[in-house]
This record gives sequence, structure tokens and C-alpha cells, in this order.
Amino acid sequence: MPEVHTLTVAEVIAETGDAHSVVFELSPDQIEAFRYRPGQFLTLRIGTAARCYSLASAPHEGSRLKVTVKRTEGGYGSNWICDNIRAGSTVDVLVPAGIFTPADFDEDLLLFAGGSGITPVMSILKTALRQGNGRIVLIYANRDERSVIFGAELSTLVKEYSDRLVVLHWLESVQGLPSEAQLGALARPFAGFEAFLCGPAPFMAAAKQALEGLGWGRKRIHLEKFVSLGGNPFETEPSEPDTGETTELHVDLDGKQHELTWPRQRKLLDFLLDKGLEAPYSCREGQCSACACRIVSGEVKMLNNEILDSEDIAEGIVLACQSVPLTDEVSVTYE
Ligand SMILES: Cc1cc2nc3c(=O)[nH]c(=O)nc-3n(C[C@H](O)[C@H](O)[C@H](O)COP(=O)(O)OP(=O)(O)OC[C@H]3O[C@@H](n4cnc5c(N)ncnc54)[C@H](O)[C@@H]3O)c2cc1C
Ligand code: FES
Repeated sequence: MPEVHTLTVAEVIAETGDAHSVVFELSPDQIEAFRYRPGQFLTLRIGTAARCYSLASAPHEGSRLKVTVKRTEGGYGSNWICDNIRAGSTVDVLVPAGIFTPADFDEDLLLFAGGSGITPVMSILKTALRQGNGRIVLIYANRDERSVIFGAELSTLVKEYSDRLVVLHWLESVQGLPSEAQLGALARPFAGFEAFLCGPAPFMAAAKQALEGLGWGRKRIHLEKFVSLGGNPFETEPSEPDTGETTELHVDLDGKQHELTWPRQRKLLDFLLDKGLEAPYSCREGQCSACACRIVSGEVKMLNNEILDSEDIAEGIVLACQSVPLTDEVSVTYE
């Protein structure tokens, strides 16, 4: 079973006309399970569905967790949250997940955010200012001035960290949609910075192409894609029929080595959780990449993959929640 916690809403903040922040208060026994890295997200149960929302708070700000939800026109979950969640509401939530987080907060960072894509970027930015010593450039695109989430907070941070933080606002109402060439021109002076991108798909595609055109290696470009989960990771799946065939599995997880006998029909994540190992995950559907790991030797087959690209796969990255073994021996690392 996934680790589900019921969290209490301490406060709801109207950030803009169509974006609400929901602040959760943790009870003392929930604090350990909800430790997170900047850039990670929570998965909320909404009726019979589930939706992921990035944490806009930063770990050093205390034990309150903040997600910021922007209404999607015609969307089920975002509108339900903005219309119904109030202080005192309770919500079922999965523990933090995701890999959109800098390995080193002393790096120089080039951050691209579009609309609600500011949420994980804000957490990364605040942490890097507080903990690191690198320079930070944020290129932040919005429809118009009224839709800028965290505008006042960013202005305060720019004043406080004027020697390290630059925020470049792009308003579609004034400048039109940002093109690849325009984003490239903004990014050009910051070659060598580690890049983090989050926002609408066309914005991320333009920013990624611009960076690649300027010679950024793909390992220095990190993307967080906002999609709605199709299934419901709060429900357990029925287990598959046992064929009796097995694979010898070697797993490197959290610095510990494990040797296990893996039933061929069982998905890697389900099997590791069966064995009591704390492997990361969120959607369990091949849509979020929270469960990503790397195959060191042997082969697996992914039953579904909606998030990894061909370059990830060429590097041996797979989604544990969708991987079943093809060879007699498989070695996996979560480094
Ligand atoms: C890791 C991660 C982090 C995220 N972080 C954030 C965040 O911080 N803030 C945030 O606001 N969002 C975030 N999201 C996105 C969020 O999870 C939801 O996808 C978003 O809120 C929209 O959900 P919804 O239920 O409102 O819309 P949905 O009901 O999923 O609908 C989305 C769109 O599809 C259309 N649609 C729905 N059903 C159909 C259908 N059958 N046929 C045709 N069209 C249809 C709707 O009209 C709507 O335009 C994140 C997603 C991920 C994966
Ligand atoms: S848990 Fe989301 S892709 Fe595997």
C-alpha cells in the first residue's frame, strides 16, 4: 500500500485571481515522513482521482508545507481545490517525491518558469539563496502582470540578494509569447549555469531548444512536466499471476546493496515495496518519473513510459513502477 497521510490545511492564500496556495500544518508524527528536497511535489487525493502539486515552500522555512494550485480551464482537480479547500479541511496526501532538484546548491542556476511552473522553481530559488553561494537568474513568463504568482516575494528577495539574484519578467500581454530565439538571447550570458525549466509544454520546449542551441549539455537541463495523472496511485493494483520464473536482482538504494530474487511478472517498484525497501515513487503509472532508476546490467521492459525521452533510455534510465525483467540477472542503481 502507498504511504498515505491525512494532512490538515492551516491556511489558504489567494495568490492571484486564479491561483491559490494551500498550506498544510504537519502533526509532530508526520514531520519525518514529509521531509523533502526543494523541487519535489506532493500527490493529493481529490475524489476518485489524484493530482500532483509541487511544493512552493522551502525546507528551511519550517514544517508547514505550501503547494500552489492554478485553475486549469475545465479541469477537475485544480478547480475543486480552489473552490472547496479551506482552513481546517483535511486532504489525503502521498509523501514528497520527484527528482527535479539541484544536486549542488552552490552551482550557478538559470531558472525558467512559466505561470504555475514557478512553484518548484521558487522552492529551489529560496533554498539556493539561503544555503548556497552561486548566482541565480530567473526568467519568469506570465500572461500579464496580474497573473504573476509570488511577484511581491520575488521583489523582496531581489532587494535582499541584489548581488546574487536577477529576475527577468516576461509578460505576454506586452511582449507576446516568448520565442526560442528570444529565450536564447536572454540565456546566452549565463552559459555554464545549471538550468531548471518548468511551465507550459510549448514554453519548456522553446527554452530547452534555446539552451541546446547555445551548447548546454542535456545533463545540465532539468525539466519538470506538469501533467494530470490518469489513474489513482492511492489504490493498490491487483497483483499479476505468478509464472514461477525469477531474476537475480542487485539493487543499490540509499547507499545500501540488496540481493533479491525477483518474480518475472512483478514490476520492480511493487517488488521492492513488497520487500520493505523505501524506493521512491508517486504516480505508479509511468507519468511522473519519481521512481526513475538506472539499469547497470541486464535488461528490463517498461510497460508504459510517458515521461522519459530516448536520451534518458539510452543512458539506462528506466521507470521502476513500469519495469519487468527480461534477463536472468539485473543490476539497478538509484544513485
Ligand atoms: C510533478 C507535477 C507537479 C505539478 N505541480 C503543479 C503546481 O505546482 N501547480 C499547479 O497548478 N499544477 C501542478 N501540476 C499539474 C496538476 O497536477 C494538474 O495536472 C493540473 O492542476 C490540472 O488538473 P485538473 O484536474 O484541474 O485538470 P484535468 O481535469 O486533468 O484537465 C486538464 C485539461 O484537460 C481537459 N480535459 C479533461 N478531461 C478531458 C477529456 N476527457 N477530453 C478532453 N479534454 C479533457 C480539461 O478541460 C483541461 O483543460 C503538477 C503536475 C505534476 C505531474
Ligand atoms: S512513480 Fe511515476 S513514473 Fe513511476
